[in-house]
Amino acid sequence: MEEYVWDESVRTGHDMIDEQHKQLFAAINHLLKACQENKGKDELTQSLNFLNDYTIRHFFDEEQVQRKCNYPDYPRHKKLHDDFKATVRDLKVQLIMKGPSEALINEVRSKIGDWLVTHIKGNDIKLAAYVEQQSSPSGSR
Ligand SMILES: [Fe+2]
Repeated sequence: MEEYVWDESVRTGHDMIDEQHKQLFAAINHLLKACQENKGKDELTQSLNFLNDYTIRHFFDEEQVQRKCNYPDYPRHKKLHDDFKATVRDLKVQLIMKGPSEALINEVRSKIGDWLVTHIKGNDIKLAAYVEQQSSPSGSR
C-alpha cells in the first residue's frame, strides 16, 4: 500500500504545526490500511473518529496561531479548513454506511490525503513563514 510520507517537501518549520501534520499523515495511513485490509467496522469507525477529531483539533490550533498574529489570509484559510472538515465528516458517514469500496478509498486518497499535502504546500508553509517573520526581531515593528 502506498503511504503518505512526511518529508522535507511538507515541512513548514513551525514545530507544533509540523508535529500535528505528522500525526495527521499517520492517521490517514491508518485509515487507508483499515479500509484496504478490511479490518472490520469497529476498527474502521475508530480510525475515522480519530482522524475526524484530530483534524478538528489541529485546525483549531492552527487557526489560533493565525488569529494570534492577525494573519491577513485567515478568512480564506479558515474557509479551506471548514470545507475540509465537512469532507472528512461526509466521507466518514459514507464509509461507515457503505463500507470501504474501491471508489471510497480513492476519495480518501484524493479528498483527504492528497488535499492535505497540497494544502500544506500551498498554504501552511506560507503561514509558518509569516509567523516566523512576525516573531523575529527584524520583522517586528
Ligand atoms: Fe492549514
